This record gives sequence, structure tokens and C-alpha cells, in this order.
Amino acid sequence: MSISKSIFDVLEQSSWIRKMFEEGIQLKNQFGEKNVFDLSLGNPLLEPPEKFKKKLIKLSKSNKIGTHRYMPNQGFKSTREKVAESLAKESEIPITDEEIIISTGAAGGLNAILKSILNPQDEIIVFAPYFVEYLFYIRNHNGSPVIVKTNERFIPDLDDLNKKITNKTKGIIINSPNNPSGVLYPQNMLKKIGEILKNKEKEFKSEIYLISDEPYRKIIYDNKKYPFIFPHHERSIIVTSHSKDLGLAGERIGYIALSPKDKDKKILFDAIVFSLRTLGHVNATAIMQKAIEEIQDESVDINIYKKKRDYIYTQLINIGYDCVKPDGAFYLFPKSPIKDDAKFVKKLQEYKVLTVPGIGFGSKGYFRISYSVDDWVLEGSVEGFKKAFNTIE
Ligand SMILES: Cc1ncc(COP(=O)(O)O)c(C=O)c1O
Repeated sequence: MSISKSIFDVLEQSSWIRKMFEEGIQLKNQFGEKNVFDLSLGNPLLEPPEKFKKKLIKLSKSNKIGTHRYMPNQGFKSTREKVAESLAKESEIPITDEEIIISTGAAGGLNAILKSILNPQDEIIVFAPYFVEYLFYIRNHNGSPVIVKTNERFIPDLDDLNKKITNKTKGIIINSPNNPSGVLYPQNMLKKIGEILKNKEKEFKSEIYLISDEPYRKIIYDNKKYPFIFPHHERSIIVTSHSKDLGLAGERIGYIALSPKDKDKKILFDAIVFSLRTLGHVNATAIMQKAIEEIQDESVDINIYKKKRDYIYTQLINIGYDCVKPDGAFYLFPKSPIKDDAKFVKKLQEYKVLTVPGIGFGSKGYFRISYSVDDWVLEGSVEGFKKAFNTIE
């Protein structure tokens, strides 16, 4: 075989996702783009702030020698300082540029972190439902993913967490606000997770990282305050990006922040910078680093996403769907009215509504809706949601 067996197997296993996408394209070709309501993609709808575009124009005209050259792999000092300043203000935790590494989005950051901490067969815990790429990222670096349950409101099941931590556990990844559920983990949940980690570290004489993947941190509604992880565990790492909060998903720009209290943060910093370099990312693009410096305190207009959440959530509840109201991000994760979520997603497709089955996120019996779409798409989908629901005996 010309390609790696493991990649071949993954492609085979995920062929249903490809099939779904292909069927979606076919539907659009057959019925026209405007008659198919695609809620399957997590692409940010909102455009970056004007300030970003102006800065980009200015940067592109700069004659400063060296603007486009290599730089320290951790990123420009000026960018790291601005990121640290804004994060310190937001979290009320004294974070400095010494704890910041600029990364190629959260995806690049997560891979650099995992490469830096994992020995072969080490375990990383993720909570279902999860962003499916986590499993691939963990396996990229010879780790084993271990799945922990959440309750009916998608909050981590701490008994299950307690049971699943072993002497091989090297880290746990949390993602709040969550893709796909939209749920925000409350402060006391983080506190309890921190306590469990501390006890288990003592029991196994091990060191366990708490990794918080937070690309939706600034997309939270109803004046909820974001609880940061740093006060709850010494060995904790934030990884995030501006893909969603500044609408820059295609630009691959984000950052990693290490806990100021981690006694090993210096070696961890060096390891992550080395990993970023040798994974071939080298550094995040120079122009993007400069472009985001002045807009660290900004985000896209969250109210637009909130209105969409309120609209589609209310419509679904009125139809009779069972759904947890999301606190943030731009997804809903309703219960499938029939047990077989893939079958229900197929039924929705018959009514020209495209969604993603819960099995794609490790949670059977649910499906994901992305409301990061134009209003006509959301409004147009309601009829299909009604019809599909009414076919259920
Ligand atoms: C939970 C989660 N983590 C990480 C990512 C990767 O984002 P990026 O690499 O664009 O920052 C995504 C993208 O959808 C996501 O939903």
C-alpha cells in the first residue's frame, strides 16, 4: 500500500463523514444553493474587525527591513507582550510574555503541546462529546485517548474521571465553551477537576497537565463570566486562537499560555517552542502576529451569534426537540428524536437540512447544528426540522 496503514484505516473509518459532505454538495447541485440549509460547518460567519483590516493594509505597505524574515520561534516579543497584557487583564491573573507562545491556531498549539508532553502510550483524557480532531492529535504523538462521560447537561462526570485516571494519564483536555454542546464549565467544576488531579498526582506520584482548549472563550452569552483554569491546577495550559473571536480561522493564528505557577514552565516553554519548530510550523506568520497585536481586547459582535442561538433554540424547543441551551460557541447539540442519530441526520437531509451526527463527536443519540450561518439558512431550516420531527412515530 502506498500510504501508511494507520492513515488508510482512519480514512476508511471516517468515510461516512466524506460521504455526508459529498451528499450535501450533490443536494446543493440538484436543488440550488439557496434551497439547501447547511448547518454542518463550524466556519465563523462574522468578519474580522475593521481595525484588523486597516492594520493589515498598513503592514503590507511597510518598508521596514526584516518584516518578513524568520523570528524567534515563540513569536515576536511585542506580540507576546500584547497578548499577555490582554490575557492578564481579562483573567485577573498576572501573566507575562514569558508564559506566551504564539501558535498556528489552536490546532497547531495543541499538537505542539501534546508532542512536548507525551511519552509513547501515555494517556490523554477527553470528555465526550468532544472535538473529534483531539483523537487524531493525541495519536499523532503516540498517545492514547481515554474518553470520560459527561452528564445529561454535558458537564463532566467526575466519578468517571476519577475512575479513568491511571498512572499513565499525562493530561486532560477540556473545551469550554464546548464544541459541539455550547456548554460553559462552571468555576466549581474546574475547582473539582483540579482537586481530583491533585489527589491522583499524589496517588500515582505523577504529573498531569490540565489543558484548556478555549477558541470560543470570548463567545459567551447572558453576561456569564469565563472561569479561567490557572487558579485550579498548577500544571495547566491554555491554548486558543483568533479563528472564532476575531473571525480569522483561515489565517492560523492563536497562542498558548502557560500557568505562571507551574514550576516547570521554563522547560515546558522550551519544549513547546521546539515542537512548534520541528512539527514544521516554525512560527505563526509574521504579518498575522503584528496584525493582532492591537486588537487583543476586541472580538466580533457576539450579539449576532446570540440572536441566532435564541432563534434556533426557541424554534427547536417549540417543535419538541430536547436540547440543552448553549452558553456559548455557535453550536447546538440536540437529542436525536430517534436512537440512531445517523439515521435522523439522513432524514433531515431528505428535507434539505444538513447537520452532523453525534457519533462524530463520540456521543451517539445526538446531532450537532452550527448556527454560524446567515439568517436565511437558519430560517429556511425550521420547516425541515419540523417535518423530520413529525415523521417520528
Ligand atoms: C474545540 C475546538 N478546538 C480547536 C479547534 C481548532 O481551531 P483553530 O486551529 O482554527 O484555532 C476548533 C475548530 O473548530 C474547535 O472547535
